[in-house]
Amino acid sequence: MPKPRVFVTRIIPQPGLALVQDFCEAEVWPEELPPSRETLLQKVRGVEGILSLLTDKIDGAVMDAAGPQLKVISNHAVGFDNIVVPDATARKIPVGNTPGILTDATADFAFTLLLAAGRRLVEAAQYVKDGRWKTWGPSVLLGADFVGATLGLVGFGRIGKAVAKRAAGFEMRVIFYDPTAEEDPQIKAEKVNSLEELLRQSDFVSLHTPLNDSTRHLINAVTLAQMKPTAVLVNTARGPVVDQQALYAALKEKRIFAAALDVTDPEPLPPDSPLLTLDNLIVAPHIASASRQTRDKMALLAAQNLIAGLKGERLPHCVNPEVYSR
Ligand code: DGY
Repeated sequence: MPKPRVFVTRIIPQPGLALVQDFCEAEVWPEELPPSRETLLQKVRGVEGILSLLTDKIDGAVMDAAGPQLKVISNHAVGFDNIVVPDATARKIPVGNTPGILTDATADFAFTLLLAAGRRLVEAAQYVKDGRWKTWGPSVLLGADFVGATLGLVGFGRIGKAVAKRAAGFEMRVIFYDPTAEEDPQIKAEKVNSLEELLRQSDFVSLHTPLNDSTRHLINAVTLAQMKPTAVLVNTARGPVVDQQALYAALKEKRIFAAALDVTDPEPLPPDSPLLTLDNLIVAPHIASASRQTRDKMALLAAQNLIAGLKGERLPHCVNPEVYSR
């Protein structure tokens, strides 16, 4: 029996890649940068499966370029806003993602950013490198306090809850805003009824929402104005959840204390972006899930989703399970 042909849009970590290459006739895009749209449309022709990254836009045109034999799309990410899921559902193609396994790594990094922005770590390191460290000073590089401070989580899913657990160790009070989630008896976090209430009360705000029409620019000029002037904002969700122009103005005019973004709009952030001129902003290159074991597990799960779809089996993690009920 010939092996099913698949296109893998980048070299993924070995445990997943080995599984894919064992089961499939796989073409793996070898470059550091993603395939161009034109290349993607050409490379998927005739494949039964696509293993994509969050940098690849997979819409109906890509699915049609592949052809009617396309059986599965497996995304190497928990987020799937790069895939036009209704287009896949209309073609009865299951779409896989990688939830759960990156929760801890992402929560660790969100907390890293809360600490780094609140305590001005990057600015302090630069201060030393610039030769500005002349002596110990009572008021040099003062930052935020954590014990007793209020952490506001926008989104109380797996990652939001994992951040709340970490905050308990710092003796913080945790509140959350999430219209789809209730309080969890296992986690010390209190639900508030509006984003405004959360922003007005929080000393730290961490974003953990998916990107969709209701969360695009959720943090904007109006909502930034509801934050405390001492507040710290962290985004490890998706770049477009924050209106970056409004954030730039708020940071520049010191209407909030500091921010840290692991995700931006666009990605990568152009090196001449005005955001990069701000001392009170840290920008990381979308690495919240970038720990060795986590990326191995993501690759493995993406491979398992792909192979299940090729075999006609239910994907271990499917974002459009309605394809199975038709
Ligand atoms: C995801 O999986 O959605 C993250 O943004 C990247 O790991």
